[in-house]
Amino acid sequence: MYIQLLQNALLTRLVDGNDYHLLPDATVVIGDDRIAWVGPDADLPDRYRGADRLDCGGRLLTPGLIDCHTHLVYGGNRAGEFERRLQGEDYGEIARQGGGIMATVRATRSATTEDLVMQSRPRLGALVSEGVTTVEIKSGYGLERDTEIRMLEAAGRLCREAGVRCQRTFLGAHALPPEFFGRADDYIALVCDDMLPAAAAAGVVDAVDAFCEHIAFSVAQTERVFDRAQGLGLPVKCHAEQLSHMGGAVMSASRGALSVDHIEYLPAESVGSLAEANTVAVLLPGAFYILKERQLPPVAALREHGVPIALATDANPGSSPVFSPLLIMNMGCTLFGLTPLEALAGFTINAARALGLADRIGSIEPGKAADLALWNCGHPAELSYHVGLNSCAGVVQGGQWRGGGPPA
Ligand code: NIG
Ligand code: FE
Repeated sequence: MYIQLLQNALLTRLVDGNDYHLLPDATVVIGDDRIAWVGPDADLPDRYRGADRLDCGGRLLTPGLIDCHTHLVYGGNRAGEFERRLQGEDYGEIARQGGGIMATVRATRSATTEDLVMQSRPRLGALVSEGVTTVEIKSGYGLERDTEIRMLEAAGRLCREAGVRCQRTFLGAHALPPEFFGRADDYIALVCDDMLPAAAAAGVVDAVDAFCEHIAFSVAQTERVFDRAQGLGLPVKCHAEQLSHMGGAVMSASRGALSVDHIEYLPAESVGSLAEANTVAVLLPGAFYILKERQLPPVAALREHGVPIALATDANPGSSPVFSPLLIMNMGCTLFGLTPLEALAGFTINAARALGLADRIGSIEPGKAADLALWNCGHPAELSYHVGLNSCAGVVQGGQWRGGGPPA
């Protein structure tokens, strides 16, 4: 086994599954691609003493960041719609006129898989440069079998070439394609009977998502997708209560969903059902900011019920053209009232929970993958505090320094 030591680090260690405590002068022992031991430098067991070592210079060492909700593979962009929204047009209205998600569907269908990889590469690069070691990427801009599968293949290729862990989510029920206008139930039947089973058989699906909203699909239609997903043994998650209160979040929790995402319109009284089901609340302040929403997610109730809160970029061409986890951490604090430590948990342990991977990633514990991020920071609050300053000094991904070699 190849052993390496990261020494003299300021560690963020999880206590009781949720709170962080800071451990200065800490060592992380990495054996091959996993964490083997964590503790004060002074307590390092003798058996590790001769190993290769890297001095972290007292800097902050966190788990590698996990972006648990992105749509970063797509063709084209929607800067023109951004201009229209600035003139007062509404996101939902633009979608109803055939723009919005459908505009990206047209650009994505006409792109080759190679094009999708090429166009998406700088977007993934932006996440990686800010310490991301795991990213979730959704389909949902194909809305027909082959393009949905090609999007997920492109996601896999991108992540492999960047050396990043990838979770792929099938989002065939993202919007109604125009060829099914007025026949949403028929489209859901196609998703369930053809598109999803084909994507699952192609081996490109880790989870299944749906957009439950008045501009997308009803609770009953979302449930049909979940029935099929769960029949295939796939975990489910839901874009719920983003623009209105539809009831998708409570339905999803009652079906054991990994996460419900957005949830600005989730009533505080409904939060208990998320807690009972262990469903993670994924907050997406980028979309809230870009769409100039006013309805805040029920953060106090989430805290009160102990619902794990994750944060993600929601990186996408429409509602959240945001490719900076650090900016999202800042927005989580300034817009949603999270603490900087909650924001960090939102991009680490709770993001891991939202992906069903908390036994493998998301915290610095023996046995977990050696996915770590080193920051030119003396306190974790600095991650959320700066805007536009990338303090990431480097990452360890599966035990290997990624990027420009070990930081000085
Ligand atoms: O998470 N809410 C639905 N889907 C995306 C937006 C996609 C788009 O506008 O292209 C979201 O915000
Ligand atoms: Fe989304």
